[in-house]
Amino acid sequence: KVYTDYFFDEPAYNTHDGGYIPLVTPKVDPQPLAIPPLLKPDRQTDTDDYYTVMAQESETQFLPGKKTKTWGYNAGFLGQTIVFRNGKQTHIDLKNKLPELTTFHWHGLNVPGPITDGGCHAPVYPGETNHIDFKVHQPAATTWLHAHPCPSTATQVWKGLATMVIIKDDVEDQLPLPRNYGVDDIPLVLQDREFHDDNQFDYRADYDPDGVQGHTALVNGTVNPYFDVTTQRVRLRILDGSNRREWRLHFNDDLEFAQVASDGGILPAPVYMTKVMMTCAERDEIVVDFGQYQPGDEVTLMTDDTPLCRFRIKSFVPDATKLPEHLVDIPDETPTPDLPVRTITMDGMDDEVALDGKKFDMSRIDARQKVGDVAIWEIRNTNSTENGMVHPFHVHGTQFRVLARNDGPVYPNEHGLKDTVGVNPGETVRIKVKFELTGVYMYHCHIIEHEDGGMMAQIESYDPQHPQTYHLMDMDTL
Ligand code: C2O
Ligand code: CU
Ligand code: CU
Repeated sequence: KVYTDYFFDEPAYNTHDGGYIPLVTPKVDPQPLAIPPLLKPDRQTDTDDYYTVMAQESETQFLPGKKTKTWGYNAGFLGQTIVFRNGKQTHIDLKNKLPELTTFHWHGLNVPGPITDGGCHAPVYPGETNHIDFKVHQPAATTWLHAHPCPSTATQVWKGLATMVIIKDDVEDQLPLPRNYGVDDIPLVLQDREFHDDNQFDYRADYDPDGVQGHTALVNGTVNPYFDVTTQRVRLRILDGSNRREWRLHFNDDLEFAQVASDGGILPAPVYMTKVMMTCAERDEIVVDFGQYQPGDEVTLMTDDTPLCRFRIKSFVPDATKLPEHLVDIPDETPTPDLPVRTITMDGMDDEVALDGKKFDMSRIDARQKVGDVAIWEIRNTNSTENGMVHPFHVHGTQFRVLARNDGPVYPNEHGLKDTVGVNPGETVRIKVKFELTGVYMYHCHIIEHEDGGMMAQIESYDPQHPQTYHLMDMDTL
């Protein structure tokens, strides 16, 4: 079976928003797609990896003329790609060379909250270095790192503080998937930006409480990119790294592709499709087979009607590898008996956004769940089905399973692990959540202006045998 639709509710697409900013095909010559370098470890042993991640100011050449002032991780804009290995003890120096405080949030990693996780309670002040240690304890996946200070996550990500974090493990190593980074295993960080006078970003000028957008698409920070295809099969690790934009991806000739992974790792089985829509913070890994093309051909990855990245076919060695019907087993744990269902609402739009009717408060713990419990959460988007928006619901420190949409089936590509799920207006999405570690974790809409605007809360994962107290920050102690 090949799926040929975007799954989400058409009336809720961002294209229907009053404030929608359409993408414009840039008037610059095609440029080679930037492939972020892999971050080199400072030191590595069989059991331990040591890294330094530095948030820094820089300038980036996006367009002809003036460079743009940007921020990045060990890079001018976005960052170097970080690779972790399941089972390894990982040690990271977090350096802040920016003129303001930032945090380093590991989106999709099962690490202790609230400090290692790097949400709003873990500020690194300008000129300072914090250190974190954790053991990577989850399957191979495409996750990411981004800034998360409250309430300026959106401005910092807009300036460039986001980068891909790839987790590897022995299971994924054995699968017949492309994994030669930069050759046939390619990160694609999808974002949009507005360029103002002298090619500068101006977040305030573009501000929209429903999410900031720009007319220009960036892929790994490249305007109008092309990629030279030198292998028959290419794996694309796609991240919606935009503040607000949804991406409705397809190839210009409806070339079929296989989705092989979602946020938290490899899917149980490949899902064959010609179209896929991604909401903010989601990751989809797809494998594209270019076997039907000849050298000199070009096939273009589009979002709606806008070209995003041109794949220029070069000569390649034929590759007859087929994806297996079954990829991995994902544990499907029975919910802990007698637990009440946790209901959560994502409310409002614009400045009115709230979660469970409340605005976020850093010093308030909104909910508690026993560590190791497997709980059912029901997430409801209370927006009207006529003019509401899809809110991408994200939980820190866990990978969940999606069980049902409005009591019906989940989308075909939602049978794997997820940390972010798009919820349509008027819809209730049921998920199954387990925290393996104790800590305080945030959960929120990942339209970043909604999160900064208060559509966010936090939950304590607690161990009754070892009660803990957390020194939570509030706006005044920051
Ligand atoms: Cu991408 Cu609170 O996270
Ligand atoms: Cu997160
Ligand atoms: Cu939202």
